[in-house]
Amino acid sequence: MDSGFAKYDITQDYAWNFDHAPEPGDDAVPGVGGDWSYCGVPVDSPLGIAAGPLLNGKWLLYYAALGFDILTYKTVRSCERASYSLPNLQPIAWPSGGTFPDEVGVTGTMQGSWAVSFGMPSKPPRYWRDDVAATRDRLAKRKFLCVSVVATAEHDWSIDDLAADYAQCANWAAESGADGVEANFSCPNVSSVDGQLYLNPTDAGIVAAKLREVIPDKPLLLKVGHIEHRETAHALLEAVVPFADALVMVNGLSAKVRQPGGGLLFEGQCRGLAGEAIRETALGQLALFDGLIREFGMDVRLVGVGGLGQAADVRACLDRGCEAVQFATAAMVDPGLGLAIRRNGF
Ligand SMILES: Cc1cc2nc3c(=O)[nH]c(=O)nc-3n(C[C@H](O)[C@H](O)[C@H](O)COP(=O)(O)O)c2cc1C
Repeated sequence: MDSGFAKYDITQDYAWNFDHAPEPGDDAVPGVGGDWSYCGVPVDSPLGIAAGPLLNGKWLLYYAALGFDILTYKTVRSCERASYSLPNLQPIAWPSGGTFPDEVGVTGTMQGSWAVSFGMPSKPPRYWRDDVAATRDRLAKRKFLCVSVVATAEHDWSIDDLAADYAQCANWAAESGADGVEANFSCPNVSSVDGQLYLNPTDAGIVAAKLREVIPDKPLLLKVGHIEHRETAHALLEAVVPFADALVMVNGLSAKVRQPGGGLLFEGQCRGLAGEAIRETALGQLALFDGLIREFGMDVRLVGVGGLGQAADVRACLDRGCEAVQFATAAMVDPGLGLAIRRNGF
């Protein structure tokens, strides 16, 4: 049901939405009780917004006023990058049951899931650094401003070059007053090496170590994509746990998107699916990682994301070892989601 809150307009492009952030309202925000923290930093609730919906500081402050206490600034780079063209958010039909399909079909209206196609655009560093600093100044104390960063690889870059570019962004974010940095180790919409870092434990470890070196005193979170196999999950944990405070999972799951006429959208390339379609996969992966962390006594936190949209989903994540949750799709479809979850309790 539409709760009437101003929201992202999927018929308009990224630049238009960037310039049309709604003004924060003054809705009453119900308390949730309990003690919550994000990577050791006290916050008022475990409710967060994932990297994506918060295009800039204005969007961030809008969602902060709607009962979200963990605000992840959409992924930024060390250089300017334009967004892909429309459609950036293409609603898809989801065939229930069975294994995750290689391909999905489009739908005219949003039914809970969409294909995400932005290509991780970024304003130039000077712009986002100033925006993060100004936003942190305006944000209440017990709200956590996390900046998501990614490297922009050149074709001949070594893994050390890649790590240095991640580190540059993390350093700038920290200097701008970010409370923490989330490094995006997975992007289903790009095919370069930085899109799949989480599947290469050795490289992921090198980048995580470099990031830790440049932000020794601030929380470092790593965002990962879908991991099916226990061995891969274990190897990734072994490689990054010495450096990271938390793992955030999952990013969108890759699939091709077919139009009604039969042709493939996005020139036949995969895009990340987000929303209800990936909830079960996300919860399953959290259970896998939670089990490994317990079994091997590892010191790292988990943050759940992927298809979450109800109070029961928050509980499901907390029960799978998460200290917090992030919403993207459901909070874009209904920005009043945080208020509703707070009213219902979890
Ligand atoms: C509009 C939109 C933009 C996104 N942009 C990013 C991004 O820049 N960086 C990133 O790490 N994830 C990005 N994501 C992925 C989300 O953070 C999240 O992992 C994914 O959407 C699954 O959560 P959901 O089912 O609640 O949408 C984006 C998702 C959406 C919907």
